[in-house]
Amino acid sequence: MAGVSVCVTGAGGYIASWLVKLLLSRGYNLHGTVRDLSDTKTSHLKRLQNAAENLRLFKADLLDYDTMAAAIAGCQGVFHLQMLAPAVTGTTNVLKAASAAKVQRVVVVSSMVAVEINPKGWPEGKVRDENCWSDTEFCRKIKSWYPVAKVISEKAALEYGRQTGLDVVTLNPGLVFGPLLQPTVNASSQFLIYLLKGGPDGVRDKLWHIVDVRDVADALLLIYESPEASGRHICAPHVISVRDLLDLLKSKYPDYTCLTKDAIYNMDHPAPMTSDKLKKLGWSCRTLEETIEDTVQFCRGARFLEDVDGAPPCRFPPLFNMI
Ligand SMILES: NC(=O)c1ccc[n+]([C@@H]2O[C@H](COP(=O)([O-])OP(=O)(O)OC[C@H]3O[C@@H](n4cnc5c(N)ncnc54)[C@H](OP(=O)(O)O)[C@@H]3O)[C@@H](O)[C@H]2O)c1
Repeated sequence: MAGVSVCVTGAGGYIASWLVKLLLSRGYNLHGTVRDLSDTKTSHLKRLQNAAENLRLFKADLLDYDTMAAAIAGCQGVFHLQMLAPAVTGTTNVLKAASAAKVQRVVVVSSMVAVEINPKGWPEGKVRDENCWSDTEFCRKIKSWYPVAKVISEKAALEYGRQTGLDVVTLNPGLVFGPLLQPTVNASSQFLIYLLKGGPDGVRDKLWHIVDVRDVADALLLIYESPEASGRHICAPHVISVRDLLDLLKSKYPDYTCLTKDAIYNMDHPAPMTSDKLKKLGWSCRTLEETIEDTVQFCRGARFLEDVDGAPPCRFPPLFNMI
């Protein structure tokens, strides 16, 4: 889309970096928001193909409306990929700035955790689709705060679209693995590193729905560019339990210590989800094996799997204790 300007919030993040790469390769002009313009946080973005001509970085905080409005002004589309803390206020600021700039479509990244945690309000055994919302009362009761934030901000975004006429679509990715573009390790990559290296924390067994970061970037662009896309889109194709994922890793990578099965404790498995709505728009994805192989190869090369003398033991990412 040569010449079309779009804004990506949190441009230096794991999923956002791949989306920025994809959009630049398709000729978009990009406004990327980052909280810190220092070289270490953004240098990987500046090195991407076409970045010199078509990527403009804005120092902006989601909680500061004026900085977001400045980044979104002049854009036809917005991709919103913020994390936990500023969930609702941050989303509202982006949507208001998008309305003020008269953008054509806003793509909000939600999560599978806004879909799957509903043990009572969904028919038992029925595959979960976009009509299923996680039950925030239940999540609060079990102190599962990340899904609460994702449900509230996704609902607020869709409701804002209904009330104002702004075209808002959402994507609900599963657990995202795949190579990293940015120099720091994000929470979902830490999940896989923890399973391979082992560590002192326990991990709940659970059915995870895994998706490749490169396929998430494709899905975000697809729902931005497809006029028929509307509402929510589950993007969570590969279903596997933590136990089976650990078995897969142990058989493929016997050199790594891997978490022991004693450290996995049981919990109920929610019913699977379907990504059919997205596939009907033309989305396809890599196999789980390819994603795991590419992630492990990348982590080896980046030396994320090495034990460093004197470093504290590998920990399970705290974010996942909130799911
Ligand atoms: N990774 C997964 O497995 C997964 C699965 C499902 C859904 N998601 C969703 O996908 C989105 C991106 O996730 P990710 O894994 O790519 O996360 P990530 O690498 O941690 O990136 C999060 C981004 O949000 C930015 N951010 C946080 N607070 C901000 C604020 N107040 N103002 C401006 N920017 C702020 C961060 O910027 P700084 O660099 O300045 O901190 C960072 O660029 C999130 O909405 C997440 O909930 C992720």
